[in-house]
Amino acid sequence: MRVMLRTLATLGLLASMLPLQACAQGDSQARSADGSPASPRVAAHPPGAAIASAHGLSTDAGMEIIAQGGNAFDAAVAVSSTLSVVEPISSGLGGGGFFLLHDARSGRDVFVDARETAPAAATPEAFLDANGELDRDRSVNGPWSAGIPGLPAALVHLAEQYGQLPLSKSLAPAIRIARDGFPVYERLASGYERRREVMERYRGSRELFLADGDPPKEGEVFRQPDLARTLELLAEKGHDGFYRGDVAGKLLAAVAEEGGQWEAGELAGYQVKERAPIQFDYRGWKVTTAPPPSSGGVAMAEILQVLEGWDLGELDAVHRTHVIAEAMRRAYRDRTLYLGDPDFVEMPIARLTSLDYAAGLRAGIHPEKATPSDLLPGQLAPLEDEETTHFSIIDAQGNRVSATQTVNLLYGSGMVAPGTGVLLNNEMDDFALRPGTPNAFGVMGYDANAPEPGKRMLSSMTPSFIESDDRVAVLGAPGGSRIITQVLLGILAYDEGMSPQEVAALPRIHHQWMPDTIAAEPGALDAATVRGLEAMGHTVSAGERQWGNLQTVSWDKRNDTLEGGTDPRNPVGKVGISGAASKVP
Ligand code: GLY
Repeated sequence: MRVMLRTLATLGLLASMLPLQACAQGDSQARSADGSPASPRVAAHPPGAAIASAHGLSTDAGMEIIAQGGNAFDAAVAVSSTLSVVEPISSGLGGGGFFLLHDARSGRDVFVDARETAPAAATPEAFLDANGELDRDRSVNGPWSAGIPGLPAALVHLAEQYGQLPLSKSLAPAIRIARDGFPVYERLASGYERRREVMERYRGSRELFLADGDPPKEGEVFRQPDLARTLELLAEKGHDGFYRGDVAGKLLAAVAEEGGQWEAGELAGYQVKERAPIQFDYRGWKVTTAPPPSSGGVAMAEILQVLEGWDLGELDAVHRTHVIAEAMRRAYRDRTLYLGDPDFVEMPIARLTSLDYAAGLRAGIHPEKATPSDLLPGQLAPLEDEETTHFSIIDAQGNRVSATQTVNLLYGSGMVAPGTGVLLNNEMDDFALRPGTPNAFGVMGYDANAPEPGKRMLSSMTPSFIESDDRVAVLGAPGGSRIITQVLLGILAYDEGMSPQEVAALPRIHHQWMPDTIAAEPGALDAATVRGLEAMGHTVSAGERQWGNLQTVSWDKRNDTLEGGTDPRNPVGKVGISGAASKVP
């Protein structure tokens, strides 16, 4: 019988203290999520719809669209656009994102890549100062830090290719909330204070955020009439409503006014890309996840296929954490060396995601000793900031959306284009802008992720699905380079039988090769486990501040129940569920 466990720390204490041993590779017979034989009697469709997102208003917007007859893709347009209004700190029309879709009618899984692209003027030289050093201010603040936005194109694509409702309906909640306003919450106000110096450099940001003379304060109503008008133009004119005409003209003028350089053709020519997701098996689950230009899917395939060599439920906490960290270390090394935009770089994806490669990595893991990261060949890995946002949707037809969207760092570039309400991203910082020089978050350069005109910067966003014969879950998270490991731990937790809310709340650990440290949230590792890991040679940074904001929904086909989980680290997140036999946390 499989052990149902609640935290990484308690897992090892409850499990028997067996010596660490790799078991046979490929233990992936179809079975139910809790380990019992798969039930032949499962529901064909969910009993309703479920949405988990990082703000109550965005979840409500999605449920409103479902109630109007929309499907999961229409709801995704509503949730995404509403997050752009209520969470400018994390994502927006001036940013980008990834949308992993499951179309129940065709059975097809598709990854909609709405990542920003590099403007032609943003060459590596454009980010160097007079001494030839990386100009850190330019790489994260203002017009040079911004890529050509992708999110508006994604909204149009979802509505036109997959939705049932016109954009005028699915964008209506976001337009209403932008026009009428919403109450400022703590994270929005404190984030503004952290970015205030940068934001108040720009006329458009001052006009929006200081409209009443003061920065946004918790509890006061924040209105964005220009953003409402931009959303209306998107609803009326589709792609052209943002990428040509009035809005595009204002974006180009704003970038030029602040000393940057975008071309009209770069906006008009922006297109989302449909890509095949990364898919692999893990202990009877089919995992469907993000391909490049996200690093998430490749890294997760490596980590989970390495871990499949052990029954984690049988390991004590020290050895369990050890093998998880060692698998993470190796995958993050490969992320750094090999991954970038698939339209620009050749990547050994088939090799990196193969079972043979995983077996080789596993064989290199010493059962009792940490492998120092500098003994693995490679260069330093990126550390990214922690904004970004994720939402998860399942509808009654069985359609699914797992979407992660971002403006990169807190309030992106800090720059709003006057008259549009559009806050530009600072995603250019996700490129390796100067080879060999770490950026503000420790990024070292490497060729696969060097900027080129039209290229998409490497991401960690990892929107994912997992499915067994009797359960389906949709999950993802923000958190820069810690996204991948959050989703990974979420998959392990689902495999161990946890509920969506337990998955979202689970204390987290993280290892990303460099720095060579296991980071742990409070409650993730107890003192004995930390001591055991240190005795193996690991450096452990226990009790770090909490990170992430995981949003997940699941459908249990055996009892036809929908359930959701929203990260308790974010008090304004919400799960919404329609239909019978459903559980809201
Ligand atoms: N900007 C965060 C990411 O894409 O990974």
